[in-house]
Amino acid sequence: MLHPERSVLSVPGSRPELFEKALRSAADLVFLDLEDSVAETAKGEARRHVVRALQELDWRGRPRAVRINPLDSPHCYRDLVELVESAGNRLNIIILPKVNHPDEVRAVGLLLNQLETAGGIGHRIELEVQLETASGILHAAPIAAASDRLRSLVFGPGDYAASVGMPMTAIGMTDRWDEAYRGSRLHYPMHQLLVAARAHGLRAIDGPYADYRDLDGLRLAALQARALGYDGKWCIHPAQIPVVNEVFTPTEEEIAWAKEVLRAYHEAEEQRRGATAIGTMMIDAASLRMAESTLARARAAGLGF
Ligand code: COA
Ligand code: MG
Repeated sequence: MLHPERSVLSVPGSRPELFEKALRSAADLVFLDLEDSVAETAKGEARRHVVRALQELDWRGRPRAVRINPLDSPHCYRDLVELVESAGNRLNIIILPKVNHPDEVRAVGLLLNQLETAGGIGHRIELEVQLETASGILHAAPIAAASDRLRSLVFGPGDYAASVGMPMTAIGMTDRWDEAYRGSRLHYPMHQLLVAARAHGLRAIDGPYADYRDLDGLRLAALQARALGYDGKWCIHPAQIPVVNEVFTPTEEEIAWAKEVLRAYHEAEEQRRGATAIGTMMIDAASLRMAESTLARARAAGLGF
């Protein structure tokens, strides 16, 4: 994992006055949105603002990312053509929403091949896809395998709930329906996405939490995603970034334990033993892999040790 992707801040492409503020924030990734935060009547204007932001603004070392409209909208082809023709050399990541089927990823990949070649773009534009429909979750594995441009799968709780008929008062939040259901109502799609992502070496990113003043609720939702193995979570407001960065960074305690496991394992290995114990806790090669995974996550978050 190279660039961390703990917090991913969404900024409506139709509100250029927010762009600088977003880029000055501590978000690991910032993307300008052309989809659901932009009114139908403002799509063309937003596209022009986004092109200018790609060309002119300082993204402070981050990959430059834009969410385009989905393939079943009338805007998608033009988003791709205008973005890549006008600013392709400065565009690193396209986020494709509402992906239902691997063919959609392939179609975008083929269009990008043409646009990159025609425009003499010197790098390959990467893709992040949102799985947020019944069909997208059903096809998570083939979607994850559909293109070597893919870097992340992103879960979209609001659109998913709407797609399967799950009542949800606000995006990504729990409500009285969660009290009626034993367990997490989003466990199945979130776990399905995670496993599909990992099977193909991709990041798994959770969607946003609507109430940007309810930081305790946000923390709990982020912890649930982190507990499953997710790498990060979308933010819709700058106030959410510190909480999300914290939750997706291993704690000192986690890091200390991981180092202790490594130490104990290697000590046992020198005595030609594969299994040992710390106190009464058995440690073997699987424990080593878990510890290495914690340390890799910490390193990706910029913690040196
Ligand atoms: N990116 C950058 N800056 C943002 C921001 C964002 N996503 N959301 C809010 N801000 C700024 C505000 O402009 C304001 O700046 P100021 O202090 O310089 O005036 C500050 O953060 C505080 O904002 P606040 O007044 O609390 O919120 P708001 O009422 O302006 O906006 C939302 C609330 C929800 C409309 C807004 O946060 C938003 O549009 N978020 C993104 C929505 C989105 O992208 N959805 C699609 C992806 S799920
Ligand atoms: Mg969505």
